[in-house]
Amino acid sequence: MMRMAYRNMIYKIRWLLVAQFLLLVPLTTSKVPAIIAFGDSYSDAGNNNAIPTLLKSNFKPYGRHFPGGHPTGRFCDGRLPPDFISEAFGLKPTIPAYLDPAYTIPDFATGVCFASSGTGYDNATSDVFNVIPMWKELEYYKDYQNKLRAYLGNEKANEILSEALYLLSLGTNDFLINYYIFPTRRSQFTIQEYEDFLVGLSGNFIRDLYNLGARKISLTGVPPLGCLPLERLTNILQHHDCNEKYNNVALEFNGKLTNLVRRLNKELRGITIVFADSYHSIDQMITRPSLYGFEEVGVACCSTGTFEISYLCSEHNPLTCSDANKYVFWDAFHPTEKTNRIVVDHYIDSLLVSFR
Ligand SMILES: *[C@@H]1O[C@H](CO)[C@@H](O)[C@H](O)[C@H]1NC(C)=O
Repeated sequence: MMRMAYRNMIYKIRWLLVAQFLLLVPLTTSKVPAIIAFGDSYSDAGNNNAIPTLLKSNFKPYGRHFPGGHPTGRFCDGRLPPDFISEAFGLKPTIPAYLDPAYTIPDFATGVCFASSGTGYDNATSDVFNVIPMWKELEYYKDYQNKLRAYLGNEKANEILSEALYLLSLGTNDFLINYYIFPTRRSQFTIQEYEDFLVGLSGNFIRDLYNLGARKISLTGVPPLGCLPLERLTNILQHHDCNEKYNNVALEFNGKLTNLVRRLNKELRGITIVFADSYHSIDQMITRPSLYGFEEVGVACCSTGTFEISYLCSEHNPLTCSDANKYVFWDAFHPTEKTNRIVVDHYIDSLLVSFR
């Protein structure tokens, strides 16, 4: 009799598990209908092509590994992190730029990019290259919301807007293009105060997105700032090694963003924010390149690999490397497509678990 009861219990537990499985499966299949990207050149799919700035990359050799082999305005030989994230969520393999006239609202319904190369949290950063400041990325997003509602109707559009995954990735230019090059912010803030100022702006931006309906957010901090080839070039005292001062700023800033994520997850009802770390994976590629098949970590693929960005990275320069997959960096400020893919591989599981 005992054995019977035992078997019965096992049977019931099994049945419960099956029932739960059947109930849960429809709830856990992908619920992310669109990827919506904000930030700087680590996400910009070509918005800068449409604005009067010198900071562009819509010419060769940029994009030589992009589908079709054409330069799009991505500061890379191929795809960027938002493209890989979109693909991992079962959406399209590349995300179009909102200002690209080749696309319209039906294209943007499953993914759209508002990022602008050279921008930062700080308005003064976007002024340097006359690119799109974050408040204006948000204005474009509001415009997108209106168009999406006109196209799909309020109910369907609002569902997409609240279920979409929002990617936010920036900060590098605030430190390296603004704070450490121009004297204004340095005279107003110590570096720790400037980090706090930027973290405050990041929090404000996330609150703005939340008030506009966003509920799923991935926040990326900054990479090892001192290891970007341009920063190595100028690190003469330390024999062109990584600039440890800048790397420490990056770590400190990322730590503060992680705390911000923790706070906002408590403060904003119904929101889920994940901190997507790019620092440690890039750091590992730089310190242990052979694990990934890299052969060059200190200079970039594009021509001499030390200072070339944008127009200085020219198709006619015979020094540009032939195999970008051996390089962590594509130009003096930006990773190769291969690096981007590995960066996303490192945090994609946490995004899929949190947002699927
Ligand atoms: C940035 O500029 C916008 C538009 O002028 C303004 O609304 C916003 O308050 C500024 N942000 C900061 C932190 O100064």
